[in-house]
Amino acid sequence: MITKTKSSTGFEYIEIENNSATAKIALQGAHLLHYQQHDTPPLLWLSEKSHLESGKAIRGGIPICWPWFGKHSEDAALPQHGFARTTLFSLLETKETDEDTTELLLQLRSSVETLAFWPYEFEILVQITVGPTLTVALTTRNCDTKPFTITSALHSYFSVSHISNVSVQGLDKAEYWDSLTDKNKIQHGAIYISEEVDRVYQKVKDELTLQDRDRTIKISTKGSSSAVVWNPWSDKSKRMDDMQANAYETMLCIETANALADAQDLAPGEEHTLQCSFCS
Ligand code: BG6
Repeated sequence: MITKTKSSTGFEYIEIENNSATAKIALQGAHLLHYQQHDTPPLLWLSEKSHLESGKAIRGGIPICWPWFGKHSEDAALPQHGFARTTLFSLLETKETDEDTTELLLQLRSSVETLAFWPYEFEILVQITVGPTLTVALTTRNCDTKPFTITSALHSYFSVSHISNVSVQGLDKAEYWDSLTDKNKIQHGAIYISEEVDRVYQKVKDELTLQDRDRTIKISTKGSSSAVVWNPWSDKSKRMDDMQANAYETMLCIETANALADAQDLAPGEEHTLQCSFCS
């Protein structure tokens, strides 16, 4: 079943229910807010204090950071993580492939508003597949006559039982940029979180694992060789107006990215797909 709903503030959503799972997607930012397989806890964390207002970033789910990840490299006044996450997408297609699987295709094209932020003609397509596995695929097409470079992320916020129960596997020996110290370091073994963490891993494999007590979430990626691991911990959570003070205890971001040396150059007419799939 696919249902379109609108909140009292005019925020538009698509809700999905099939034999495998339920999901909810906001048209703003093609933003997946919720995915849950029947009889398992929700996969994604969404802040109870998140803004669900037109033009404001949503805290949780899977924001799409595009066409730049993090701060803009030249102009700090431009929005962090780009403008896609706060822009309304069009719903192009919905498909109930079978009783277990539902697909959505959402689109954003360059417009007067986007050209004010970023002077290129483009099309981005976001394909979301809700089944026993969740897949999000972000395709960027260069529709301009000049080349452009993008950095991007599928900024997944995972819901976890407690951060002290969690480890991330698959990044042993990977080099990372620690944004808190502005230093490059090497990961040794699994990642355990006991303080603020904000790292961009480079040259990563296409399979990572989030282990949360007896729950194992497999993260499979395509078109990405960087991964961002972020938890704001207590002080930063308190400073953020859209997070509860202790919310860092039940979330962890592991983002499928094209960042730093993994930026993508696209010639006119070229396209690139960044994709992540999760199963647990
Ligand atoms: C992460 C960044 O991807 O997103 C962090 O690495 C940042 O530095 C976090 O704090 C949240 O960003 P925002 O713009 O949603 O507050």
